[in-house]
Amino acid sequence: MKKPFLFEVYPDLENSIAWLPLINKTKVHKLKALGEYLGTNDLWIKRDDQTTEIYGGNKPRKLEFLFADAKKKNKDPVITIGGLGSNHCLATSIFGQQLGFKVVLILFNQPLTSDVQKKLLLFQYFKTEMLHEEIIKKDQGLLKRYPNSYFITGGGSDQIGIIGFVNAAFELKNQVEQGEMPLPKYVFLALGSGGTLAGLEIGIKLANINTKVIGVRVIDKSTTSSALVKSLFKKTLKNLKIFSDKIPDIQIQKSIIIDDFYGGEYGKVTKEGLKALQLMEKYENIELDTTYTAKTFAAMINFIKKENFKKPILFWNTYNSVDLSQFVKKLKFEDYKSLPKDFHPFFKKRLKF
Ligand SMILES: Cc1ncc(COP(=O)(O)O)c(C=O)c1O
Repeated sequence: MKKPFLFEVYPDLENSIAWLPLINKTKVHKLKALGEYLGTNDLWIKRDDQTTEIYGGNKPRKLEFLFADAKKKNKDPVITIGGLGSNHCLATSIFGQQLGFKVVLILFNQPLTSDVQKKLLLFQYFKTEMLHEEIIKKDQGLLKRYPNSYFITGGGSDQIGIIGFVNAAFELKNQVEQGEMPLPKYVFLALGSGGTLAGLEIGIKLANINTKVIGVRVIDKSTTSSALVKSLFKKTLKNLKIFSDKIPDIQIQKSIIIDDFYGGEYGKVTKEGLKALQLMEKYENIELDTTYTAKTFAAMINFIKKENFKKPILFWNTYNSVDLSQFVKKLKFEDYKSLPKDFHPFFKKRLKF
């Protein structure tokens, strides 16, 4: 596990920004068979699905900086928020346990799927305390039990977590310089809480590379928008500039966001998403998820076909592909009975996982 590329470029950041090693540099490679099917030989993937051996996806990049910050400030527990099936909450639970933090999750409803049931049981398996959002609304005092807590915003997208994706842009630049792939003209990624997009936008500007990042919105417009990404961009840049006067002023531009593949509801399975997921599986044997990455890849397929796009184009795979079956096989459906009562209604129907 290597020290962040960002610290090599701006050494003064290393003295002031807390960081602990969680992730490996992730591979980039060509999607040859799928590219041929789509009519291009320049389709690439960034394997952030393999950021760590225990849990992949985009979250560990943010958690490297967030848990380090919590540790530096001597805070415990770490409290965070997400949907019932939140990948961010699962990643926080796994790494929290590994790093010796207690983790408290505030969970809100989302469409019920087998993945949601599995996640709820996994949260319990990793010994998190689970609180339903409705309970917190009724009893604000609950969280006062933890006066020394460290709060991580939904998706880990605050000015600390986002540094993980500023760094990721420098990682990509290094891979291009090492000849691992050509400079992509476009990068496609899923837009949820906005941190991945904002971080890459900052990093790409600082790294001075000519690549456009496109976010595919998978969450309601009222929650995520170009205004949100802009404010995350500003806050993170301001934070970095406090720690290094070598960071230049960079222009914020309106983010490029595709709205048409959302499907009207967070977590809803769409026809286009399902098709994209199946193509990725059939041609490349890479797993996508229906909430984020399948919708993103569907938008990318549409873009490639519509624009007859033949230049290097990169799909940033933000979904965890590490096999969790070693944990999942230890779960029993009946274990839900030991979850807090507010979560029992989500197990009325036995879904297969
Ligand atoms: C698999 C996956 N991809 C993409 C995202 C979106 O990233 P961000 O919240 O930084 O916009 C998430 C967020 O939860 C995610 O779980």
